[in-house]
Amino acid sequence: MAGIFYGVGVGPGDPSLLTLKAINVINEADVIIAPKTEKKEDSLALTIAKPFLKKDVDVVKLVFPMVSDSETLSEAWDANKGIILDLLKKGKNVVFLTLGDPMFYSTYIYVYRLLENCGYPIETIPGVTAFCAIGSRLGYPLVEGDDVLSIIPATMEDAKLDKVLAASDNIVLMKVYKNFPQLLEKLEQHGLAEHAVMTSRCGLGDEQVVDNFNNIDKGYQPNYLSTIVSRRTRA
Ligand SMILES: C[S@@+](CC[C@H](N)C(=O)[O-])C[C@H]1O[C@@H](n2cnc3c(N)ncnc32)[C@H](O)[C@@H]1O
Repeated sequence: MAGIFYGVGVGPGDPSLLTLKAINVINEADVIIAPKTEKKEDSLALTIAKPFLKKDVDVVKLVFPMVSDSETLSEAWDANKGIILDLLKKGKNVVFLTLGDPMFYSTYIYVYRLLENCGYPIETIPGVTAFCAIGSRLGYPLVEGDDVLSIIPATMEDAKLDKVLAASDNIVLMKVYKNFPQLLEKLEQHGLAEHAVMTSRCGLGDEQVVDNFNNIDKGYQPNYLSTIVSRRTRA
């Protein structure tokens, strides 16, 4: 019998935020796939899921490079697709771990698209997104009443960013590690700086929260796993 491919969200950092379904699937898997963006990095999703792995489970660390060179990209992705299909053909149940939720700005989305028409069953198991965990951790309501919340990758094009910031009551800014000083200026211009809070590595041992940006160094570069939540009115 052919295997099943599971995309499993492990949440943003705290292992106790995994769902029961995620834990069961991880615990019964024949093979765990831990994605990494670079050869040197370790897989954070794997570290989070570690308490729930079967003792003798096969762990395969696959590198999904984030580079603009399309040839390198498609070669690596095709090779990874081949590895996963081989396992499914052999009847293995394969779990692909993903940080936060699998269908939310995740490498899993590309993997899902590569595999969805290959004839193997796929099940996606949701996870707690970083921004939801941050709202709860900080006691910071993200939206209430008629509020409009925009979830914004801060890496987006400038003109579009201005339009979204102008139209939103509340915001979640993801991927804030690039152009950080310019981003703070934009929040100021759009009246979204006063109640802004940045959380880095939420739920991990070295979590950091910054809620006052006045004295922050101009050259400060946040950790890759950093998210800013903000609202026009006080929470
Ligand atoms: C590629 S996206 C992954 C989103 C993830 N799938 C989710 O559901 O939250 C990476 C961005 O998610 C946010 N992020 C993920 N984990 C985080 C954490 N533990 N603490 C703060 N932000 C986090 C950061 O904004 C980071 O730049």
